[in-house]
Amino acid sequence: MQTEKILITGSNGQIGTVLSDRLIDIFGLDNVILTDIAPNNHRRGIYEKLDILNTAHFQELIGDYKITQIYHLASLLSASGEKNPMRTWDINFNGLLNILELVRKNNIKKLFFPSSIAVFGDTTPKVNTPQDVPLLPDTVYGIGKVAGELWINYYANRYGLDIRSLRYPGIISHESMPGGGTTDYAVEIFHYAVKKEKYTCFLKEDTVMPMMYMEDAINATIQLMQAPVENIKIRYGYNLGAFSFSPKEIYNEILKYFPNFEIEYKPDFRQQIADSWVKRIDDSKARLDWGWKEKYSFEEMVADMILNLRKRYSKETDTEKIDLVY
Ligand code: SER
Repeated sequence: MQTEKILITGSNGQIGTVLSDRLIDIFGLDNVILTDIAPNNHRRGIYEKLDILNTAHFQELIGDYKITQIYHLASLLSASGEKNPMRTWDINFNGLLNILELVRKNNIKKLFFPSSIAVFGDTTPKVNTPQDVPLLPDTVYGIGKVAGELWINYYANRYGLDIRSLRYPGIISHESMPGGGTTDYAVEIFHYAVKKEKYTCFLKEDTVMPMMYMEDAINATIQLMQAPVENIKIRYGYNLGAFSFSPKEIYNEILKYFPNFEIEYKPDFRQQIADSWVKRIDDSKARLDWGWKEKYSFEEMVADMILNLRKRYSKETDTEKIDLVY
C-alpha cells in the first residue's frame, strides 16, 4: 500500500495549528508537510514556507515530497477579509483555483477544502438551515467560499477528483487563536474571563451563531476524509453543526465559574456580518451520510475551555504570552 503523504496549507492558522498535530499522530512525522506563509509555529513536523499563489514552488513541494493528499486551510477570515477585498479574493479564491489545477495535474488522491457558515446570507433561512438554500453572502470571504464550493463541485464531477468539504461553524479552541473572524468573540471571551479582566464584546448580546468545539471540528474533518468514497454524496460543503449560542448565553455560562466576570457590548462592523449568517444549522446529511456526531455539548465545551485555559495561564511566563492582539 502506498504511504499517504499529506500537505497542509495554513498550518499556523486556528484550525491548522491543531489539525497538523492530529494528522502527524495519524500518518507519522515524516508523512505530513506543514506549510504556511508565516514562520512555523509548530514544535514538531516537517515545515516548508509556502505562498499558495506561488504555483511553481507549490508544484516543487508536491513533486519533492510525493504528496498524495492536500488539506487546504490557508485563507483570510471574514472580518479581516473586508479590510482588503481584492487581496482576500486573490488568496482565498485564486489560491484555491491554483490548488485545484495542481491536484488535477498531479493526480492528488484527496483534497480537503474548508467551507463555512459564511456562505449564507440574508436570503438564507436562519433557523435549521437546510443543506441546499439560497446563498447570497455579504462578505468577500463568503463569496470566495460559495465560489470555492462551486469550483470544487465542478472539479469533482468533471475530473472525478476526490474533493471533500465542510461548512464549519464558528470554532472554539484553547489551543489556538482565531484571527480576523466574526465568531472570534467566542474564543476571546474565555481568555478575558480566565485572566479576570472585563470583556468588551464586538457583537450584540442576542446574536446567535452556530459554533463547535475544536476537538469536534477536527474529528469531523478526519471522519469525512476517511469515510468510504461511496458515503460522500455532497462535494460542495456539508452543513456541520454542534450547538448555537449568543454572547449573553456564553457569558451566563462562564459566570458559573467566574461570578465576578464583567462584559459590555460594543457592536462594530462585525455585527452586520453576524446578522447575515444563520442561527442554527441542519446538518442531518452529514449525520446520515458519514455518521457525524459531536462529542461536546455547549456546557461541556465551556467547562473544558476553562479547565485548559486555567492550566495554560497558570504556566504562562513572560516569554510565552498568549497573543490577544488582533
Ligand atoms: N469563523 C469564521 C469567521 O468568523 C467563519 O468561517 O470568519
